Amino acid sequence: MLNTLQIKAFDYHKATEREFSLLNEFNNRIRQEYWPEDQPLTLEETIQNLRATPAFSDLRLWTAWTPDRSKIVGRASATIMRTEDNQHLMYFDIVVLSELRRQGLAKRLLTHIATVARTENRRVLQTDTDSKIPSGETFMKRLGARMGLRSRTNQLRIAELDKNLIRRWTENAPTDEFELGLWNGAYPEAEIGAIAKMIDVMNAQPKDNLEQEDWHWTPEEIRQWQKSLAERKTEQWTIYARDRKTRELAGYTEVFWNPHHSENLNQGDTGVLPKFRNKGLGRWLKATMLEKVLHERPYVKRIRTGNANSNAPMLAINNELGFKPYKDWSTWQVELNQMLEYLEEKTLVSQNRT
Ligand SMILES: CC(C)(COP(=O)(O)OP(=O)(O)OC[C@H]1O[C@@H](n2cnc3c(N)ncnc32)[C@H](O)[C@@H]1OP(=O)(O)O)[C@@H](O)C(=O)NCCC(=O)NCCS
Repeated sequence: MLNTLQIKAFDYHKATEREFSLLNEFNNRIRQEYWPEDQPLTLEETIQNLRATPAFSDLRLWTAWTPDRSKIVGRASATIMRTEDNQHLMYFDIVVLSELRRQGLAKRLLTHIATVARTENRRVLQTDTDSKIPSGETFMKRLGARMGLRSRTNQLRIAELDKNLIRRWTENAPTDEFELGLWNGAYPEAEIGAIAKMIDVMNAQPKDNLEQEDWHWTPEEIRQWQKSLAERKTEQWTIYARDRKTRELAGYTEVFWNPHHSENLNQGDTGVLPKFRNKGLGRWLKATMLEKVLHERPYVKRIRTGNANSNAPMLAINNELGFKPYKDWSTWQVELNQMLEYLEEKTLVSQNRT
C-alpha cells in the first residue's frame, strides 16, 4: 500500500474545491483525535484558514493520496518565518491517519520537510506532540529530537467559574493609578508602535530548553496577523491597562472567538510590563475580560489557554480561576543534520536489503 501512495505538494492558492474537500475530511479525522469535544471544521474554514496565512509565515503543505486520489491519508507542513528573528528555525508537522501508521509514511513525508529546511538554510526544526497520541513522542525520539518545552492546554469550564472571586479581583483593582480600555478587533493604527513594544513582554514566558531567540514583532507583521484573524472570521478582544499619569500601556489580555465554534473561547496572551507588576493588574485584566465574556457571550462553555508548565506566575492566576489541565504538549527540536542522518540511515538500510 505504502509505495502506491502519492505525495504531492498541496497548493492552497490553486487547489480545487474537491481537493479542499478531501483535505477537510482528513483534517476533521485528525481533529477528532486531538479535540474530541470540538465541532468539525467546515470546508469554508479549511479553505479560509490556509488562504489567510499571514505573509510573514511561509507555509508549505504536502498531502499523501491513495492511488485513485479518492482520499488523503497523510499531511506534512513546514513553516518558514520570514522575520528578523529566529532565522535558524523552521516549524514542521506530520500527521498520518491512524489506520495507516507504522508503515513508513511519516518518514517519506519527512524527506520533503528536510529538503525545504536544507534549501532555506534552517538549522533547527521544531514540532509539537500531544501526549494523548504517544506515537508522536516515539517518532521524535527515534528521529533523535530533543525535548524543548513541556506545556499544557488548561481549560476553564464556565460553569465552574467562581464569580465571587472575579468580583473581588475587580474590587481590589488599582483604579487610582491605572485605567482599562478595550480594543474590539484590530489594534488601533495610531498606537501600533507602542503595542508592538508592549507585546514584547511575552518574551518573558519560559522557553526552557528551546533554542529560540526572542520574537520582536514589527508593526507590519502585527498588521498582517490581524488581517489574517479577520479573514479567518476570528474575533479578537483585547483589554489593556494604561498608566493614568504617563499614558503608558502597562499590560493587556486578549481572547479569540469564532462564531462557528461559539461554545469555545481561546485565551491568548496576558502580559504586564515588568515595572507595573505586583500591583494586581494581571488579575484585574483577567477578571474584567471574564465579566465581559459572561455578559456578552453567555453561550461560551469553556475557555482554553496554553501555558508552559514552568510559567508559575501565569499558572497561579489560572489555577485560582479554576483552569484545569486538559492536555499536555511537548515541543521538540531536532537539528537538520540529525534529521538527514536519520533519513540517510534508513535509505542505506533499505538499499542494503535490496
Ligand atoms: C507520529 C506519526 C506521524 C508517525 O507516522 P507513521 O507513518 O506511523 O511513522 P513511520 O511509519 O514513518 O515511522 C517512523 C519511525 O518512527 C517509528 N514509530 C512511529 N510510530 C511508532 C510507534 N507507535 N511505536 C514505535 N515506533 C514508532 C517507526 O518505527 C519508524 O522508525 P524506523 O525509522 O526505525 O523504521 C503518526 O503516529 C501520527 O500521525 N501521530 C499524530 C501526529 C504526531 O504526533 N506527529 C508528530 C509531530 S511531527
